[in-house]
Amino acid sequence: KRQLFLCGCYMVALGAHTGEECMAKHHEAESYVAAVYEHPSILSPNPLALTSRQQAFELMNQNLDIYEQQVMTVAQKGVQIIVFPEDGIHGLNFTRTSIYPFLDFMPSPQVVRWNPCLEPHHFNDTEVLQRLSCMAIKGDMFLVANLGTKQPCHISDPGCPNDGRYQFNPDVVFSNNGTLVDRYRKHNLYFEAAFDVPLKVDHTTFDTLFADRFGVFTCFDILFFNPAVRLLRDYKVKHVVHPTAWMNQLPLLAATEIQKAFAVAFGVNVLAANVHHPVLGMTGSGIHTPLKSFWYHDMENPNGRLIIAQVTKNPVGIIDAENATGEMDPSHSKFLKILSGHPYCEKDAQEVHCNEATKWNRNALPIFHSEMMYDNFTLVSIWGKEGYLHVCSNGLCCYLLYERPTLSKELYALGVFDGLHTVHGTYYIQVCALVRYGSLGFDTCGQEITEYFLYLSFVSDLRDDSGCP
Ligand SMILES: *[C@@H]1O[C@H](CO)[C@@H](O)[C@H](O)[C@H]1NC(C)=O
Ligand SMILES: *[C@@H]1O[C@H](CO)[C@@H](O)[C@H](O)[C@H]1NC(C)=O
Ligand SMILES: *[C@@H]1O[C@H](CO)[C@@H](O)[C@H](O)[C@H]1NC(C)=O
Ligand SMILES: *[C@@H]1O[C@H](CO)[C@@H](O)[C@H](O)[C@H]1NC(C)=O
Ligand SMILES: *[C@@H]1O[C@H](CO)[C@@H](O)[C@H](O)[C@H]1NC(C)=O
Repeated sequence: KRQLFLCGCYMVALGAHTGEECMAKHHEAESYVAAVYEHPSILSPNPLALTSRQQAFELMNQNLDIYEQQVMTVAQKGVQIIVFPEDGIHGLNFTRTSIYPFLDFMPSPQVVRWNPCLEPHHFNDTEVLQRLSCMAIKGDMFLVANLGTKQPCHISDPGCPNDGRYQFNPDVVFSNNGTLVDRYRKHNLYFEAAFDVPLKVDHTTFDTLFADRFGVFTCFDILFFNPAVRLLRDYKVKHVVHPTAWMNQLPLLAATEIQKAFAVAFGVNVLAANVHHPVLGMTGSGIHTPLKSFWYHDMENPNGRLIIAQVTKNPVGIIDAENATGEMDPSHSKFLKILSGHPYCEKDAQEVHCNEATKWNRNALPIFHSEMMYDNFTLVSIWGKEGYLHVCSNGLCCYLLYERPTLSKELYALGVFDGLHTVHGTYYIQVCALVRYGSLGFDTCGQEITEYFLYLSFVSDLRDDSGCP
């Protein structure tokens, strides 16, 4: 649809203006330019050691210098928003005490309108915020970054930690004039002893002139109903900025697969920036639209990567996913149509999609169980060049529409898990997954395989929607 439009546009342009002008206008109307930076951050050699604020700056300024270079590079390419990763400035593995010198003070942007670059003396201990704000001005772009902050509190405040301060892990958003527009304090911390969980969940959105509303959440948050799904459902967010410091764990928790899945499933754009530390299993950033992904994942190359892409202003969005008027993969919208008729679509047999839906393989295939990432999954194998299947466990059913160009020896299965996960954290989780077997036997399902050869579209269906973590 988009290519046809461009084509028409060019034809008209031949008469009046140059084709380029016409393209530029079209792009202005339909899309914006975004950048994410996968940052090989300079880490403290000993994050447990106590340092001075001065030493902390020396380290953080090295990372901020690299940020500034990226901003200046992308400014020349018309980028309107750039996203930097979680923990990209101060680093990883601190304790509550050892991180203290790295923390900025940040007033609540809801209470004070503040431009740290232009008004540096309004608050003490705001050097990192000042540098980020100045970069946004220099680059004339929205800038999203993550830093550590401190917030003094009174012991009388019931949530106040014993040391008299909250320590948060927030993402900050600066507009292109350097104003601190908003901040999101990470809610779902992942073994981060240095930080506190805010007493209330932040639902942080910001509006831009170049696109619709953006929402913000960090790393592990992407797996939780709150704030991730709530932002899309209740705040009509069409674009997500997602700073992350994500350690990949195959087969189910690779950064790029989760980011892309989120974009496709919810019909939104995801601008995700990870740190780059292959030694720690940390890589995987991308600009994901529901239709297309530009991503970087490299376990060998020590270098970071700037990803720049033109992004549609108007992805489908969660609200009208069923009607699918915006940008969406045609096979995914076909799938949603089939699903909406399933499983009782015999009622209107006139419909083409209904005939297709009758091909759903209901109970014919044997299910089996296999442990993946410490959870007991229920699975069905995938046979043939194309088909539809589903598999259920407890309150959750997963549906798969698949197609492959040729049959190969690789074996695949569709798996579902709905239950309590108890290793490396205790969470009630619901998972739909397509996995490739490690070799040619059932017992190897769920091993850490990095290559897949299948085109697919799948969704989960909560029979009981009370189950969100
Ligand atoms: C952080 O801690 C993890 C797990 O304890 C360890 O594997 C990793 O090497 C540490 N990273 C740094 C940068 O100290
Ligand atoms: C910043 O700290 C200095 C020295 O402690 C103090 O004199 C000054 O009042 C502080 N400024 C603000 C804005 O809090
Ligand atoms: C700076 O940007 C913010 C957010 O886009 C906007 O509300 C504000 O009016 C701008 N300020 C100036 C001085 O242009
Ligand atoms: C889909 O479109 C129909 C007809 O325009 C409308 O009645 C319905 O509410 C829409 N569904 C959603 C989920 O937006
Ligand atoms: C996995 O779950 C199935 C069905 O509940 C059960 O029969 C099987 O014993 C379980 N496997 C393990 C290893 O717990």
